[in-house]
Amino acid sequence: MTSYPGLAGLLLLAAWSGAALAGDAAEGRRVAERWCSSCHVAGSRAGTDAVPTLATIARDPKKGPGWAREWLQSPHPPMPDPNLTRREADDVIAYLESLAR
Ligand code: HEC
Repeated sequence: MTSYPGLAGLLLLAAWSGAALAGDAAEGRRVAERWCSSCHVAGSRAGTDAVPTLATIARDPKKGPGWAREWLQSPHPPMPDPNLTRREADDVIAYLESLAR
């Protein structure tokens, strides 16, 4: 049987870049506690009763992490744009995905 080092290398590369693209839920929780918790209940931080908690949003079958990603790209009033970097947004979404499970 011939070996295909090129293909193996490509697969490894694909796995690596996949890992690099996926957000980090633990980091996302820190971002959420820092940037979202002045309004939303996020992680261990208390928000306000006026807005849904991040866990509620993540578990809402009509919303969820994918919907929240769109929202973060263009939030509308009354929520101000948190101006997250791409990386921070990915991490927050990964955190929401961990809450939704
Ligand atoms: C200054 C206050 C404030 C901050 C900070 C804030 N939000 Fe919001 N957010 C709101 C308000 C107000 C709403 C609208 C709630 C409503 O319409 O019932 C909202 C709505 C949302 C919604 C839509 C919820 C829904 O069911 O319509 C999502 C998702 C969301 N926020 C995520 C976040 C995330 C993630 C962060 C942190 C990166 C964040 N928000 C930071 C105030 C804030």
